[in-house]
Amino acid sequence: MPSKLALALALSPAAAFAPAPAKAAPRAAPLNAVGLYYSTTTGNTETVAGYLTAATGIEAVDIDSVDDETLTSMDALICGAPTWHTGADEQRSGTAWDEFLYDRLPSLDLSGKKVAIFGLGDQGSYGDNFCDAAGELYDCFSAQGATMVGLTATDDYDYSDSKALRDGKFCGLLCDEDNEYDKSEGRANDWVEQLKGEGVAF
Ligand SMILES: Cc1cc2nc3c(=O)[nH]c(=O)nc-3n(C[C@H](O)[C@H](O)[C@H](O)COP(=O)(O)O)c2cc1C
Repeated sequence: MPSKLALALALSPAAAFAPAPAKAAPRAAPLNAVGLYYSTTTGNTETVAGYLTAATGIEAVDIDSVDDETLTSMDALICGAPTWHTGADEQRSGTAWDEFLYDRLPSLDLSGKKVAIFGLGDQGSYGDNFCDAAGELYDCFSAQGATMVGLTATDDYDYSDSKALRDGKFCGLLCDEDNEYDKSEGRANDWVEQLKGEGVAF
């Protein structure tokens, strides 16, 4: 005589023995977040930020429009500034970066984050101070514990001196919309590929 259990097994619809609904799959780890920040006076830095947006899909945001919490939630930052205060030791950009670097950045811990700098300048008229503000951003972000990436070769430029030099390289991507606007997009695209190779996950 078959047991009650055997009978139940034989008679019950298969659905009754369907596996329990799977638990919700664990949420995938969030994609690495990269912030693209800039400031500009006449639009050139915004133009290059636009090339970087086109290459990465990341929206470029004015540094004045981002709060500290959002900024520090990023895994990597790309920061771009022009130089307007020629020869200055500090606040070389002449844009909102000057206030950010000295009023906000000193209280932010950026350890474990990758930071890449891009700078806009004019080799022809300001060849002794080419993109000096980029060097200032580099030093200020570095001082907050960031891992600096994206240094570039100086070969393809015609300048005399620059405070953006670090160990024989430029401290980031330098562009000159005044004299070499036709090179900016290619330089930006190459730089994005370089950053990917240095572990910036776009
Ligand atoms: C008054 C003045 C000062 C400048 N000083 C420098 C400088 O010291 N170094 C440099 O590389 N470019 C200098 N430039 C050039 C600007 O940095 C360059 O035009 C840049 O592309 C401007 O970027 P923006 O349009 O994003 O503000 C200066 C331009 C002006 C008009």
